[in-house]
Amino acid sequence: MTVRTRVAIIGAGPAGLLLAHLLDRQGIESIIVDARTREQIETTIRAGILEQGTVEVLSRTGASDRVLTVGSRHDGIDLAFAGEHHRIDFAATAGRAVWLYPQHEALKDLIAARLAAGQDIRFGVTAERVEDPDSDRPRVVAVDADGAPLVIEADWVVGADGSRSVARASISGRHSGAYREYPFAWFGILCEAPPSAEELIYSNSPEGFALISQRSPEVQRMYFQCDPEAGPDALDEAELWTTLQARVPGTTLKQGRIFQRDVLRFRSFVASDLRRGRVVLVGDAAHTVPPTGAKGMNLAVADVVLLSEALRASLSDGDDALVDAFPERALERIWKAQHFSWWMTSMLHLQPEASDFDRRRQLGELRTVVESEAGRTYLAEAYTGWPLPGVEAVLG
Ligand code: PHB
Repeated sequence: MTVRTRVAIIGAGPAGLLLAHLLDRQGIESIIVDARTREQIETTIRAGILEQGTVEVLSRTGASDRVLTVGSRHDGIDLAFAGEHHRIDFAATAGRAVWLYPQHEALKDLIAARLAAGQDIRFGVTAERVEDPDSDRPRVVAVDADGAPLVIEADWVVGADGSRSVARASISGRHSGAYREYPFAWFGILCEAPPSAEELIYSNSPEGFALISQRSPEVQRMYFQCDPEAGPDALDEAELWTTLQARVPGTTLKQGRIFQRDVLRFRSFVASDLRRGRVVLVGDAAHTVPPTGAKGMNLAVADVVLLSEALRASLSDGDDALVDAFPERALERIWKAQHFSWWMTSMLHLQPEASDFDRRRQLGELRTVVESEAGRTYLAEAYTGWPLPGVEAVLG
C-alpha cells in the first residue's frame, strides 16, 4: 500500500512525537511510524532530566501538563569529590532550573496528545529505507506489523529513528560521522526507596563515578561507572549497594528492593550530514551524547524546535531558507552539548589507566569549577540549557 502525507516521520521517540505535535499545531499533517509497540515505547526507562526550555515547549504547546504537576523542579545539583559535597546553585548562577520527569512519561503524554488529535501514528511498522532523498517526493519504504509492505510518500522525510537510524543510511551511510567511544559504561538500577538526598549527586570518587538520581518519592535511579563489558547480572544486590555506597562517601544511601538493572554504553557521535535533499535527521539519529550531562532528550527537542518552523516555512510559504540553514544552526548547539557532555564525563569518571598525576589534575579541575563563580555558572548554564533559538515561533 502507498500512502501520501506532507511529512513522514520515522521514530516515535521524543524527537518524532514532538515534531508531529508542533507541525499539527501549524495545521501540517504527518505520519509517524515506529517499529516498536506503543507499550514498549511507553515503558522503556530512559533519561530523566529536562531543561527549562524543554519544559516550556512541552507545557506551553499542550504536549504535556503533567511535566509541571508530576515532574519536580530541581534548582541545583550536588558535585561530590575528595570527600566533600559542593552545591551548584542553578537559580543563583544561571537563573534557570531543570525538571526531573522521566522520558517515558513525556512520551506517554505526547502519544496521548497525538491520538486525541486524531493524528496518524503507526506502531509496529519497520522502516527499511528512505528512497529518492533528492527528489521532491522522497518516500519511506516500510513493512507493517503483519509483514505487509507500506510506502509513505511525502514532501519531507524526517529521520527521528535513533542511533541505529535507517534514514541516516540514505543520507550519508549508516555510520558516517564524528565518533568517540569511552572506556567505561554506567551500571544503572531502579529501586524502591525514598530519595537519599534532595538533589542529584554527581560523585567523583577514587573507586569511580556514581550518580544518585531519582524517579519519584518511592522510586530511585542510581548509576555507577563500570566496565563496558560487564553484564547486568555481574553483581548481586548486596554487592550493588556496597559498590554504590563506597562511591558516595558522606551520604548514607537509602536502600530498597532493586527491580531493574541495565548497562549503558557510552558514545559521542555527530552524523556527517543532517540533511540531504528532502530528508532531515533529528535527535539520536543525528547525534548521541554520553548521559553525564543529561543532554540527550533536550538536544532532540532543540533540533525539533528549529526544524518545525523550517518545515512550516517550506510547506506553507514555499520558503526553504530556514531548512537550508537548519544543519548549521542545529550543529552549533549540538557541538556545544557534545563538549559539555564530554567535559562532565571526563571530569567525573575514573579513567582506567589514570596515573596519580591524572587523578590529582582531575580534582584540581573540579576544585577550579566549584570555587569559581564563572566555573559554577558555566556548568549551570549548560546543564539547565542554553536559550533555544526559534522557540518564539513555536510557542507563539
Ligand atoms: C537519570 O535520572 O536517568 C539521569 C539523570 C541525570 C543524568 C543522567 C541520567 O545526567
